Amino acid sequence: MPTPFDLEGRIALVTGGASGIGEATCRALTGAGARVIVCDVDRPRAEAVAAELPGASSLVLDISGEAAVKTAYQGIARLDILVNNAGIGLVGNIEETALADLQRVFRVNVEGLFLMTKYAMPLLLASHGSIVNLGSVGGLVGVKRRFAYCATKGAVVALTRQMAVDYPTHVRVNCICPGTVDSPFVEGYLEKYHKHEKEKVRAELNQRQPIGRLGRPEEIAHLVLYLCSREAEFMQGSVISIDGGWTAA
Ligand SMILES: NC(=O)c1ccc[n+]([C@@H]2O[C@H](COP(=O)([O-])OP(=O)(O)OC[C@H]3O[C@@H](n4cnc5c(N)ncnc54)[C@H](O)[C@@H]3O)[C@@H](O)[C@H]2O)c1
Repeated sequence: MPTPFDLEGRIALVTGGASGIGEATCRALTGAGARVIVCDVDRPRAEAVAAELPGASSLVLDISGEAAVKTAYQGIARLDILVNNAGIGLVGNIEETALADLQRVFRVNVEGLFLMTKYAMPLLLASHGSIVNLGSVGGLVGVKRRFAYCATKGAVVALTRQMAVDYPTHVRVNCICPGTVDSPFVEGYLEKYHKHEKEKVRAELNQRQPIGRLGRPEEIAHLVLYLCSREAEFMQGSVISIDGGWTAA
């Protein structure tokens, strides 16, 4: 009987692998036997995470630069799993959102994902590989004053389904939509927008999810692990919420 969710011998690239959900994903995939490429723009963190994980390497890259992405893939001979996790946020309704900020969020969350996936396709087609995209509840329902962020995550949901239609039997493409997860992403938001009322806003974030707490990065990481395992071979073009009941309400 093979071990469930075994990724022995697989090579996985995780964007945004140096922090939060991405870091937990690097750990979970390594634990299942994969060799992980920790891809991030943050060199010290990427190198530190890779140094801790057996078989891992780091790839310091801004995923939104086409030339750099192309060059990066020239150094990768085989790829079985691509986790498009890197992403940034922005607070503001449509009136508060400047065009340059909207474009910055799209550049990372959509264009970066596009570039990383486009140039991975020859490798993923050769390996019959699997892509997991990190969307968000913000791609499924409206979240107050998250105009740009919701727009980008809606695009991630749509492009996941579109790709599953183009490559139904060749590459699996699925999308995870987390609710609020306790990561440096949320800490950064609290620090930037609610410095003097962090605990009050943290409590509001907990209450926004019927389960009454934030998600943990490992909880998302294990769903990523499932989706890229052999056990999930029937999963194609799925958009899965994992949000403590937020979108069920
Ligand atoms: N934390 C949450 O509440 C939450 C909820 C839903 C969805 N998500 C999504 O999950 C993903 C990971 O979130 P997280 O909370 O772990 O974030 P995080 O901020 O902790 O980590 C994101 C990582 O992405 C890297 N990154 C950012 N821009 C990059 C670029 N241009 N090129 C390469 N790397 C880049 C950062 O350096 C960082 O290490 C994101 O796509 C986010 O939108 C997060």
